[in-house]
Amino acid sequence: MVLLEAKGVNVVYQPGRGERIWAVRDVDISLNEGEFVGVVGESGCGKSTLGFALTQMLQPPAFLESGVIEFRGVDIAGLSGEELRQQRRRGFAVVLQSGMNALNPVRTIQHQIGDVLRAHKKEGENWSKGAVHERGAELLKMVGLDAGSLSRFPHELSGGMRQRAAIALALALEPELIVFDEPTTALDVIVQAALMETIKELQRSRGFTALLISHDMSVVLDATDRVIVMYAGRIVEDQASEQMLRTGLHHPYTEALFHCYADPRADEVVLQDIPGSPPDLSMPDLACAFAPRCTIAVDGCWRERPLLAEVGGGGRIACLRRRFATEEKGGGLHI
Ligand SMILES: Nc1ncnc2c1ncn2[C@@H]1O[C@H](COP(=O)(O)OP(=O)(O)OP(=O)(O)O)[C@@H](O)[C@H]1O
Ligand SMILES: [Mg+2]
Repeated sequence: MVLLEAKGVNVVYQPGRGERIWAVRDVDISLNEGEFVGVVGESGCGKSTLGFALTQMLQPPAFLESGVIEFRGVDIAGLSGEELRQQRRRGFAVVLQSGMNALNPVRTIQHQIGDVLRAHKKEGENWSKGAVHERGAELLKMVGLDAGSLSRFPHELSGGMRQRAAIALALALEPELIVFDEPTTALDVIVQAALMETIKELQRSRGFTALLISHDMSVVLDATDRVIVMYAGRIVEDQASEQMLRTGLHHPYTEALFHCYADPRADEVVLQDIPGSPPDLSMPDLACAFAPRCTIAVDGCWRERPLLAEVGGGGRIACLRRRFATEEKGGGLHI
């Protein structure tokens, strides 16, 4: 069952008079119930903007320029005020990169959990101090913290504990979709690995749909069912993680990302940068945005923008070269 379906999503930042940055371009994406989907790409390619757009959390100067975003069949892009608040109530939550950003520095964790529970309380619910403590302890247990942390202020917790507390807050309303925006990036490698294990375990046991935004392909591949690769505001590849792990047909940008981090497919680790940098998002992209950095680009790549086309096995790739390869092989996925 589809939980969220977005079509033709375009997000523009208008930071100043006449300035327009197209951060998300023509994105079509659907998330199934209980699915764990990753979004990867370099810094500035529109991952966070997409996450905020899908959960109606865009703030000026960002605007949803066009697109339909249906959550359980309701177009949330058109909602505002109380209607949106109600939809958000049990609908979705976002966990940001730094727990400190999500947490209020001058309130204890228990107060903050109480604030969320009371702000969204259902008719007949009464969140007394004792009830909040009980629910708070339960939520902290889910994320691997003990009830003692309830009385702490965010600065009294380590980075990893703060991020766990932020996840507990996100879980408070039992959302159906949680967007994790670089949840482990600010943490050291060991804390990062333990937190990812907790996120995976929670997603499996609670059954919510998760969108994990990260620039680290190996972290995403290890955790998710499906990976979406973004470049310059567009989806350039969307494939099952299992398929990603095979040396099959991939967008050249995906291949390049594999080499930037420890390639989970390789025995030996040889890291390689992607030469050049992503394009200026204030310009339209009439051709393939990756062509200037692509090692297999042909003339056509500089002339036409490749559509995101199905490549079999439920995957989609936006690459002229890969399309030719697929057609030559009669639609098969492997070259
Ligand atoms: N507040 C802002 N004002 C103007 N432009 C912005 C703003 N925030 C983001 N952008 C633009 O939108 C683009 C996409 O930004 P976004 O934060 O979604 O990228 P990202 O993929 O999440 O990057 P990162 O990995 O660094 O978090 C950026 O390249 C930038 O040009
Ligand atoms: Mg981001």
